[in-house]
Amino acid sequence: MRELIRKLDSQKELDREELVYMLSHRNDNPEDREYLFQLARERAIENYGHQIYLRGLIEFTNYCKNDCYYCGIRAGNNKAERYRLTEDQVMDCCDAGYGFGFRTFVLQGGEDPWYTDDRICHMVARIRDKYPDCAITLSIGEKERTSYQKFFDAGADRYLLRHETADPCHYRKLHPEALSIEHRKKCLRDLKDIGYQIGAGFMVGSPYQTYENLADDFLYLKELQPHMIGIGPFIHHSDTPFRDMADGTLEMTLFCLGMLRLMFPKVLLPATTALGTIDPLGREKGVQAGANVVMPSLSPKGVRGKYLLYDGKICTGEEAAECHHCMEMRMERIGYKTVSARGDYKGWSRGAAGACDER
Ligand code: 5AD
Repeated sequence: MRELIRKLDSQKELDREELVYMLSHRNDNPEDREYLFQLARERAIENYGHQIYLRGLIEFTNYCKNDCYYCGIRAGNNKAERYRLTEDQVMDCCDAGYGFGFRTFVLQGGEDPWYTDDRICHMVARIRDKYPDCAITLSIGEKERTSYQKFFDAGADRYLLRHETADPCHYRKLHPEALSIEHRKKCLRDLKDIGYQIGAGFMVGSPYQTYENLADDFLYLKELQPHMIGIGPFIHHSDTPFRDMADGTLEMTLFCLGMLRLMFPKVLLPATTALGTIDPLGREKGVQAGANVVMPSLSPKGVRGKYLLYDGKICTGEEAAECHHCMEMRMERIGYKTVSARGDYKGWSRGAAGACDER
C-alpha cells in the first residue's frame, strides 16, 4: 500500500489493478490511510496554502426533465415541491453573497426546459455586468454545444457536470434509457474545448458501484483532466427507486478524496454538502483529506428545503449569512481560512482553451 501511495504521489500512472488494490485494501492499516491523508494535505497546502475557496451555490430551479434513479428532484418524483427562482431573486442571492465575500456564484438547477438558453444567457450576462470580478459557474446539465458556447459568450467561466460513472453498464443501472455516458462525455469534451474550467465527478458508493468502476472513474478523470472534481457519498432519497439502497460511507469518500488529491495536485476539490450530511464533521474531514473548496448555499431560505437530492440534507433551515459564518468558523477551527477570491484553476485564463493542459 505505501508503495502505491508513493507512486500515486510521484505522479506515476497507476493501472486499473493497482487502483483496485488501493481501494479494496484501504482499511487494512490505519497508518497507511493516515499517510495518504498526510501527503494529500501536503499537496493541497503546497498549491493553495491553508486557503479554502468559497463557492456560493444558488439552486435556482428544482424542475427536472430527467429521471435519474438516485436523485430526489427526478421528474418522476411527484412529491417534490417544485420551485423556480426569478432572475431578480437570483440577483438578490448574488448581492448577498458578494457582501459575504463570495467571488464565485454557482448557478445550479435541474434540467428545466423553462430556463431556455436565452433566459440563462440573460441571467448570466446580468451577473457578469454587475460583478465583473466574480466567476460564474453553471451546473445545469447536458446541452448542445451551441448552447454551451452561448453561455460562455454571455460570461460564464466554469461548468460542473459530474460524469457520475465512466462505465457504460454501471451508468445504465443509474439512469434511464434517455441518458448515456457517451453523450455525457461528449458534453464534457465540448465544454473543455470551448474554454470553460470544467468539473466532473461521481458519487461514492452509488448503487451497484464496484471497485473496478471507481478505478475506471479515476482513469477517465486522468484522461479528461478536469479543473475541478466533485465527489460525495451517495445518500438515498426516500421518494426514488433507490430508497432502500445503502448509502456511501465517510471512510470511502475520504479515501477517494485523498487519492484524487495525489493524482491531481492542483485540482479544485470540494468537500461537499453530501459529505457534511453523512458526518457532522464531514467537510472538515474532507479538507483534512485534501479538499480545498467548500460550497455553502446562497439560496433563499424559503426554497432550501425543496432542493433535496437526497434525504437528510444539512443547512436547509438556515439563512445564507448563517451558513457563511458557520463555514468560516468550521475552517478556522481546523487551521484553514476561507478566502474571498475567485479561486480559478492555476494557469487558466479566459480565451486560452487547452492552456492548462501542461501541468
Ligand atoms: N446522493 C448523493 N448525491 C446525489 N446527487 C444526486 N442525487 C444524489 C444522491 N441521492 C449528485 C449527483 C449530481 C449532483 C448535483 O448531485 O452526482 O451530479
